[in-house]
Amino acid sequence: MAKYDELARQINAQIERGVWVKGEKLPSLRKQAEQTGFSLMTVLHAYQLLESQGVISSKARSGFVVAASTDPKQSGRVHSRVEVSDAVSVNDFVYEVLQASRDPHMFSLGFAYPDPSLYPRQHLNKSISCAAQQISLTSAMDNLPPGNLELRKIIAKRYAARGVSISPDDIIITAGALEALNLSLQACTQPGDWVVIESPVFYGALQALQRLGLKAITVKVTPENGLDVAALERALQNHLVKACWLMSSYQNPLGYSLSDDTKQRIAGLLDAYNVSLIEDDVYAELYAQGKAPLPIKHFIKNTNSMLCSSFSKSLVAGYRIGWVAAGKNALSIQKQQLMSTLATSAPIQLALVDYLTKKNYELHLKQLRKKLIVRKKDMVDFLCDLLKDVATVYSHSGGYFVWIECQPHIDAMQVYQEALRLNITIAPGKLFSVTEQYDHCFRLNASFELNEARRNQLRKLTHFIKALSKEEQYSTDLNSI
Ligand SMILES: Cc1ncc(COP(=O)(O)O)c(C=O)c1O
Repeated sequence: MAKYDELARQINAQIERGVWVKGEKLPSLRKQAEQTGFSLMTVLHAYQLLESQGVISSKARSGFVVAASTDPKQSGRVHSRVEVSDAVSVNDFVYEVLQASRDPHMFSLGFAYPDPSLYPRQHLNKSISCAAQQISLTSAMDNLPPGNLELRKIIAKRYAARGVSISPDDIIITAGALEALNLSLQACTQPGDWVVIESPVFYGALQALQRLGLKAITVKVTPENGLDVAALERALQNHLVKACWLMSSYQNPLGYSLSDDTKQRIAGLLDAYNVSLIEDDVYAELYAQGKAPLPIKHFIKNTNSMLCSSFSKSLVAGYRIGWVAAGKNALSIQKQQLMSTLATSAPIQLALVDYLTKKNYELHLKQLRKKLIVRKKDMVDFLCDLLKDVATVYSHSGGYFVWIECQPHIDAMQVYQEALRLNITIAPGKLFSVTEQYDHCFRLNASFELNEARRNQLRKLTHFIKALSKEEQYSTDLNSI
């Protein structure tokens, strides 16, 4: 690539990320040359190229300014609070990041599940062996969709304790929350339909949309304010939306939770526009204070809403047991399940019934929540100190994700590559969006203990981020940090 082309791309990316906004003057040719190390001629050619593309324009005696109206195809997207995307494609990258997390030597901060040492392994093992001994010849039939009745009753009772009325008959046991979410989306959409999702969003939503050939309308969410309800309303007004996939508590990746008042307003909108809600509630048990939050479903009148969750984040990930409280879609979801996975593993459903009836799940949850609070605080304190001048560290009460927003010119993919070299995985912002808006951000999993070796790894990584921010040379020698 010619040097002027390279520089033009850099400037284009800066404009896309809001470093230079429309109407703003770019650095003079001389200043740009000094800052970037390119020759004056290269800078001039780059500016002329961007001008020919309509990205910038020249003004007599004031140099080059960002064009008032730029063509999004050439200059990148204009990031409004609602965006549409005809086709969604993220699966390959998600696969790559998950593969990296499989290496046992990695400090898996990019992983979405809690530290497995926090699960009550011995009790679960006992329950598995109990289930194996008790399993009857008819157990495969008893555990067909909608799933084991005892398990569905236990789940319904746990909702009742939160103040949410859900009948065991409305619950379908699935292979983790991911199957619940996918089946729910399939139950209320046809290929080509519009679906509202958050931006940034859990990549599972992007994969599901990709798989089902659905079109995304993204509504911007922020770590400070969560979902913008006015933007959601605009999306519903302007498009024939079939479904809305949301997280109202401990959102992945930002970690925020919506207030009951906001949930109520969202429920009112979905009722008014008759849009199906697919609510992802997988972190609900991981609250830090008080009691488990209410889902949006609690406030909704529409019987189309589907509430999906699992035991993966609170008890055990590998069992792959989740569920959907499916309302009027319960039957169609069961029929779809018959066509895909047929049913969830019978012995594993029985093992969970054994654990939940005989062991102290509440005590385990209490201990888990306590540990997560301490570990997240350790991680946040440590990172805030190391990154104080170069990034914002967002953390909320509950859950275990921390969202890091670097300066706009930082490429989190570069941070991701350096992290891999240091045997750390992170979840770069690119995983959570169909646009480039979060390319300077990444998500960390704060459920792991921060021992000295891990602190050293993180010191090196943050040193790299600081060097990128200040455009300095980076040394991998920790002693020089
Ligand atoms: C927000 C969110 N929803 C759903 C899932 C999938 O959960 P499960 O493992 O139960 O399928 C995950 C897992 O990472 C998640 O983070």
